[in-house]
Amino acid sequence: MSKQFDVIVIGGGPGGYVAAIRAAQLGFNVACIDEWKNEKGGPAPGGTCTNVGCIPSKALLQSSEHFEHANKHFAEHGISASDVKIDVAKMLARKDTVVKQNNDGILYLFKKNKISFFHGRGSFVKAAEGGYEIKVAGAAEESITGKQIIIATGSNARALPGTPFDEEFVLSNDGALRVGAVPKKLGLIGSGVIGLEMGSVWRRLGAEVTILEGLPTFLGAVDEQIAKEAKKAFDKQGLKIELGVKVGEIKTGKKGVSIAYTNAKGEAQSLDVDKLIVSIGRVPNTIGLNTEAVGLQLDERGAIVVDGDCKTNLPGVWAVGDVVRGPMLAHKAEEEGVAVAERIAGQHGHVNFNTIPWVIYTSPEIAWVGRTEQQLKADGVKYKAGSFPFLANGRARALGDTTGMVKMLADADTDEILGVHIVGPQASELIAEAVVAMEFKASSEDIARICHAHPSLSEATKEAALAVDKRTLNF
Ligand code: FAD
Ligand code: NAI
Repeated sequence: MSKQFDVIVIGGGPGGYVAAIRAAQLGFNVACIDEWKNEKGGPAPGGTCTNVGCIPSKALLQSSEHFEHANKHFAEHGISASDVKIDVAKMLARKDTVVKQNNDGILYLFKKNKISFFHGRGSFVKAAEGGYEIKVAGAAEESITGKQIIIATGSNARALPGTPFDEEFVLSNDGALRVGAVPKKLGLIGSGVIGLEMGSVWRRLGAEVTILEGLPTFLGAVDEQIAKEAKKAFDKQGLKIELGVKVGEIKTGKKGVSIAYTNAKGEAQSLDVDKLIVSIGRVPNTIGLNTEAVGLQLDERGAIVVDGDCKTNLPGVWAVGDVVRGPMLAHKAEEEGVAVAERIAGQHGHVNFNTIPWVIYTSPEIAWVGRTEQQLKADGVKYKAGSFPFLANGRARALGDTTGMVKMLADADTDEILGVHIVGPQASELIAEAVVAMEFKASSEDIARICHAHPSLSEATKEAALAVDKRTLNF
């Protein structure tokens, strides 16, 4: 007889492993199945985020930022560092250690919460007595049954039609994190989040980087003023971004990749690079789940169809994270995982899509929550805007990083904060205050009246709130 569980989670990424922990905390007998393998073939839970996404990319961003600081910014502090070199192998080994620490942390959390972990691929099988069995194909094959099933199988990189990833010359996010030497010339297709983050890593380390973007506007989802400020900074750094291109034939040879494209003026161009990273979005992953066998409904993009509570069309089957609609972000996946576990326990799971923060971990960092000025205009909402430049912030000056600003948008009548947009140092940390404020429906006046430590970057948020009422103190 197959092992029985209250809750089976398929996928051990941020959506899945967090759902499993919350379900266990709520007293359920939980199994989590994940197929990711480390280089020795052992388990490596944590999904895309831990293995080839959030965590390793931030490790490389950190290393490359240190390198750039040592090369370009130490001197202004009176520190001389000559002959600064990058040992790429060591940088990658450090990144792998950080990843492993996270994998091990999750395995420890499974043990701590008495979650049964299965290493292998889970797929649906119709059970003879009704309901579903989940077949786990790992080192051995076994079947388990669960009263409730949570699917959290994530997403995969989208390839350009006709140009599969070979991970040697044409790289997905996976290969982009394993480039063994700094390429002389690096091309990227797509100036979205991965394009900018990975482009920044290799530019800082010395590569000549060109990003080809299909859309005519840079970072279309970002507040226009913030996107413009960010673009100015990237241009200054030498990150070459060509907008409005149409990518044509891509040829891979022994020495590199040649990309034919037309530029925004419609002129035929070509770009020859040593490596090409394709970062044009991701596709939901249901490979191997055997969804057809049980009639699980997918949409035209291949995402699992869910309602507002993450329920699928099958009773007792839920889905969360990248494999369903909504932003493909680790913290969104986690929130959904927790909410589903709580709904299974009869509680009120809570995910507020209006207050999910976005962060792009470039330098300057870009972070936002809520609506942009363009969205408010399109929605016909009357708003007030206030912004404050880091140039006028004492801490930013002391840090030597005064690029950018904090911008706050508030309802013209009620003063409720509708959006906060930041480009500049530590935007990833500063945005948390804005998320809390919006979650509690704070007004700009609330932030303006809160005491912020001096000198701190967060004073720029307070000043942006004061600017909404045209009463900044330091600008
Ligand atoms: P995943 O993390 O993809 O996990 C799914 C897991 O399920 C995987 O381990 C997979 O092997 C497993 N699986 C799939 N099918 C099966 C099966 N049938 N049986 C068993 N196991 C299965 N987001 C952020 O919020 N911040 C960031 O800084 C950030 N940086 C990123 C950088 C890069 C380069 C990339 C590619 C993504 C980044 N993301 C970031 C996005 C983030 O990684 C995803 O949103 C997040 O991982 C989604 O979590 P998930 O649990 O839905 O899926
Ligand atoms: P993306 O959606 O952020 O950007 C893709 C870009 O490629 C877009 O600008 C799009 O216009 C462009 N594009 C699409 N097809 C094209 C084509 N044929 N030619 C030229 N340009 C084309 O996707 P990306 O960067 O691949 O990242 C995937 C997702 O992973 C992100 O949307 C995000 O959800 C997540 N992520 C989050 C991070 C973070 O939170 N810091 C970091 C990295 C990824």
